[in-house]
Amino acid sequence: MRLRSVELELPQADVAARFLAGAWGLLEAGKRGNTAFLRGTGDHAYLISVGEAVTAGVASVTFSGSNEEIAAVAQRAKAAGVVHQPMQSFDEPGRSHGFLLQGPEGQAYRFIAETEPVARLPDNQNRPVQLTHAVINSTDREACVRFAEKVFGFKLSDRTGTMSFLRCNRQHHAVAYAKADLCSLNHVAFEMPNLEAVMLGIGRMRDNGVPLVWGPGRHGPGNNVFAYFVAPFGGVIEYTSEVNLVDDDYPVGKPEDWTWPPGRIDQWGLSLKDMARAEVAERQYKFRLLN
Ligand SMILES: [Fe+2]
Repeated sequence: MRLRSVELELPQADVAARFLAGAWGLLEAGKRGNTAFLRGTGDHAYLISVGEAVTAGVASVTFSGSNEEIAAVAQRAKAAGVVHQPMQSFDEPGRSHGFLLQGPEGQAYRFIAETEPVARLPDNQNRPVQLTHAVINSTDREACVRFAEKVFGFKLSDRTGTMSFLRCNRQHHAVAYAKADLCSLNHVAFEMPNLEAVMLGIGRMRDNGVPLVWGPGRHGPGNNVFAYFVAPFGGVIEYTSEVNLVDDDYPVGKPEDWTWPPGRIDQWGLSLKDMARAEVAERQYKFRLLN
């Protein structure tokens, strides 16, 4: 199973698509009506879609897997009495089929099998490969973790004072839940080929008038390097690389395992975080409820 994509809706989606396919480094992957799809250099048909809407929101966070893996999630969702839509085909790049379900606080998740994966492109220092994680603000972090374990079959990797990280393959986390007073998309992380590409991305964003909101730095849990930006279309987007690969015997970290010395919020001790600006952006994309 892998994190495949996020589906956003927002005003002036065409402007967002131009930024994502321009400075951010993605590639155009087609349109359906007023929705544009953007891909990276990896084998996913797309990583992010931007559809025109009156207000900003998240239509879904999408995970992809084999037919068997998707069917197993559907089975567990049914057994747990979770609100979900029936198996269907989605008219989108990759011609996926799967289903939507609703998390404990109304989060919309899709689980799909991709029937038309695209060929990988050569790594490019200026282009993301794929998504590595989505972080979701939640008012009841423990309920979200239990749900992801029980229904999705994900495994808890680490827990800090404010975040819980879960994985669905060997990458340390594909989703994390952050303690908050509302449910929203905290940020989406795009995997770059290496640390150099993350640093080049910081410069490219600065050239384009998009300054860092946090970074560069190296996280504790997951050990990945990071650079966070407030997207011109709102919300927080991240370039990341070098996330840890873990095995089944990875010990689940506790908050006391992940504390920083005074004045530090990452391993390098270089990064300053513009908390006020980040927090506004982390609250901008709330989830659309399923009908
Ligand atoms: Fe992140």
